[in-house]
Amino acid sequence: MPPEKGPLACGAEAIGRMASLERILEAARAALSPQDLKGHHLVITAGPTREPLDAVRFISNRSSGKMGYALATVALRRGAQVSLITGPTSLPPPPGAHTVSVETTTQMHQAVLQHTRQASALLMAAAVADFSPYPEEKKIEKTGKLALKLKPTVDILADISKKRKGIFLVGFAAEAGPMVGRAEEKLRAKGLHMVVFNDVLEPGAGFDSETNKVVILDRWGGKVELPLLSKEEVAYEVLDRYKALKT
Ligand code: PMT
Repeated sequence: MPPEKGPLACGAEAIGRMASLERILEAARAALSPQDLKGHHLVITAGPTREPLDAVRFISNRSSGKMGYALATVALRRGAQVSLITGPTSLPPPPGAHTVSVETTTQMHQAVLQHTRQASALLMAAAVADFSPYPEEKKIEKTGKLALKLKPTVDILADISKKRKGIFLVGFAAEAGPMVGRAEEKLRAKGLHMVVFNDVLEPGAGFDSETNKVVILDRWGGKVELPLLSKEEVAYEVLDRYKALKT
């Protein structure tokens, strides 16, 4: 492991610090892992988007980014080149990933367009806003009731499916109930190869938990129902499935 940059005992700020234990551990995990995704360039999205409402407020959701970051970490461990396009989260960027930070759906769309030119796959674990307000330049003053007018955002996956032929597309479907059928509809409507269904009302699944419980569906009729697993274990399953289906 090379030394890291930071404050040194002599008072200087330079390269010379021992790598963090987490980095050393992750390097050991990668060294011991089969490099079965070497040669794959995966673009992974994570976290929420924020849609500005005025100068100080925004509309967002409860995504922590944990699912997308787990995918990025496991993909790197297995030898993939990873571009991680992330909405605001409190997670440290996975070492080795090319991490791009964005806020709005429009910014995420632009970053995904830019990074998918040569990519093998796009995996969208981000919780992208479906609607955004018409933002006010100044702070909206409190003057009684306020009705918000919202417009639909661009559907990033559907757009990439039209513009980037040959890329393998994986969507995540966050449903409030056991509605696997809705995930199947998203698979078809967005032109996906795979969709990962999670019922966000189930305890331990979906938003801001350490675990997830998913069903992986694909356009060839495959269906894998998994038990409650850590998000890292779910990432292994999703990437195994991607690898098996990608020709
Ligand atoms: O971040 P965590 O706290 O770990 O939580 C993980 C998660 C619950 C956010 C994740 O597992 C998940 O389900 N992500 C997708 C959430 C979502 O936006 O679902 P959806 O059913 O609304 O959208 C379906 C797919 O279309 C998603 O892949 C989404 O990224 C994509 N999409 C949605 C809207 C939009 N305008 N453009 C898109 O590309």
